[in-house]
Amino acid sequence: MTNENPRFEDPDFSALVVRSLVAMTTFYRKPQEHPKELICTEEGGVVTQDLSDFSDLQEISNQVRNCRKCPLSETRRNAVPGEGPCNAKVMFVGEGPGRQEDLEGRPFVGRAGSVLDELLRSIKLDRKSVYVANVVKCRPLAKDSDSAIQDSGRDRKPTGEEIAACAPYLKGQLRLVHPQIICTLGDTATRFILEIYGLKAGSISRIHGRVLSVDNAKLIPMYHPAAALYTAELKELMKKDFKKLGALLAQKTLVSI
Ligand code: URA
Ligand code: SF4
Repeated sequence: MTNENPRFEDPDFSALVVRSLVAMTTFYRKPQEHPKELICTEEGGVVTQDLSDFSDLQEISNQVRNCRKCPLSETRRNAVPGEGPCNAKVMFVGEGPGRQEDLEGRPFVGRAGSVLDELLRSIKLDRKSVYVANVVKCRPLAKDSDSAIQDSGRDRKPTGEEIAACAPYLKGQLRLVHPQIICTLGDTATRFILEIYGLKAGSISRIHGRVLSVDNAKLIPMYHPAAALYTAELKELMKKDFKKLGALLAQKTLVSI
């Protein structure tokens, strides 16, 4: 697929995978290894009995907002931790904030966000009921854009180092939200999440819309909504993939946890 968005170019994933795995294996543990005595707080956070990692979503958000672990902190205006209910059944994972997200500190509120909202509406899924996060929490700004001209700056794909540095936050969110269905949006998120579960990602054009079983969850790789901004046919494919999500949600086994 050709695409004007530099995020959709193929990155060098072998180096990324090795670095990410090293960082992840020290942090990530499968959800069932953590007793899930979850208490939802008013802020939407949770408290768990496990104190070895992040203990609630609010703690992750606070750490993300103050994080300086990678150079993206130098050009961000706002970090974008992610948002949604702590007991969301569905979690969407994107790549990283763009201009509008960086301005507002919230995920998928720009043009790609409008496409995501439209797709959610198409299956009558309330955005407030899902958790939305990204692989990296600060906007990857292309090198030739300086921080003073962020508004005209170009987005780029996050590097392997940035992804590895940020990985603990998304893994903490996955563990605490413990969604029944994970929808990865685009290449970067799909590779990242599949790696966590020890799976190798093929091209998104081949695996999008498949319902994969990982641990106690289902995983549906999807195209990134920004791709639909450039290619109308992709939006139709995305609609079909969202229908699969809708059908999965309608299954009785998923309705009661
Ligand atoms: N693209 C992403 O991957 N994430 C966002 O939050 C917005 C655009
Ligand atoms: Fe920290 Fe992630 Fe932001 Fe880098 S992208 S500064 S690791 S929150």
